[in-house]
Amino acid sequence: MKEVSHRVSKAPKSAIRELFDLALGRTDVISLGIGQPDFQTPKPVIQGNINALKKNITMYAPTRGVPELLQQLEHKLIKVNNIKSNWNENIIVSNGGSQAITLAYASIFNPGDELIISSPNFVSYFYCALFFGVKVIEVERKDDFSTNIEGIKNSITDKTKAILISSPNNPTGYALRLKELKEIVDIAIKNDLYLISDEVYENYIYEDLKHTSPASLNEMFERTITVNAMSKLFSATGFRLGYVVASKELIDLMEKYHQYTVAGTNHAAQYGFIEALKMDIKFFDKIWESFEKRRLFVYNRLQEIGFDIVKPLGAFYIMPSTKKFNITGVRFSRDIMKEHAVAIVPGSIFGTFSDHMIRISYATEMEKLKEAMDRIEKFVKSL
Ligand SMILES: Cc1ncc(COP(=O)(O)O)c(C=O)c1O
Repeated sequence: MKEVSHRVSKAPKSAIRELFDLALGRTDVISLGIGQPDFQTPKPVIQGNINALKKNITMYAPTRGVPELLQQLEHKLIKVNNIKSNWNENIIVSNGGSQAITLAYASIFNPGDELIISSPNFVSYFYCALFFGVKVIEVERKDDFSTNIEGIKNSITDKTKAILISSPNNPTGYALRLKELKEIVDIAIKNDLYLISDEVYENYIYEDLKHTSPASLNEMFERTITVNAMSKLFSATGFRLGYVVASKELIDLMEKYHQYTVAGTNHAAQYGFIEALKMDIKFFDKIWESFEKRRLFVYNRLQEIGFDIVKPLGAFYIMPSTKKFNITGVRFSRDIMKEHAVAIVPGSIFGTFSDHMIRISYATEMEKLKEAMDRIEKFVKSL
């Protein structure tokens, strides 16, 4: 047979999925690997989807999304993010945040372009770049996971097309401060770059920090591509719905790409998303409180166990260093799974600077978290 795709072959099978494979059939495994909240999708959201199906809304949806959903999103964007957009021109509904990232890449990149990201960072940014022939320039985060602004400035070449930021961040749990965000924005403006902003964790932010969308800042709407999803806020990762906000020019290009690759998103599910957006955001208070407790618990326990660790400011991940214990993240993950049945993701999948790190998701109920921390303690003591 002829050769298969080089680009796709180069991407490894998801290490997170491999971890789940190891856990398969074992009832004793506690997973700290998952990236989805352990809350139920709110009832109105599910009902919205069911009602649409009952009305036989089972045909193709408009490519950009159902107009009522786009209008709700326009409203949400101004109210929550202070982003002024026009639903008819600036928004497209995607298959989750994942495809929102793909659409962002599809609209701006040509093979050979360079994309700057802080590293460690979310896996998909790397592999989407591979698929589109884009060179990722990783700028190592500072020790507290904040942005190395000088590093970004020094990485810019005439091939640089965009900077990608992801705040609150998966996997580090870092959240950008406004001053830092403005410095990045400044670089984008001065160098005429696009800024891709992944905001899927915007609601999971702690320590009195406030999330700011760069598209709301002066001169930034036209050069920012905002990526978001219903997945994390509404505990609805299986709905597979997200959205992109950008200039008309870019959304028009995304629409073409969307048309010929996925021909739209799940029609009935979009009515669930409409109901989600109509909900009083207070529904999230108890979820936030629960995550806040878990964040502090996990941070304190890991510190007690002896990890070098940065206190997370957002999302639901924490990324301890394993250097002190003289063990790589890959070995740590593999051995703790075998010996103590805890699923933890190795840091190396999030870039080239995190070989001696592990990513722990605390989107798991407290009792399990307590047990998992005890198992981690035993494992660390045995090293
Ligand atoms: C930073 C980040 N962006 C995007 C996504 C993808 O979100 P979705 O599940 O909506 O595709 C994830 C999922 O974990 C994520 O962590």
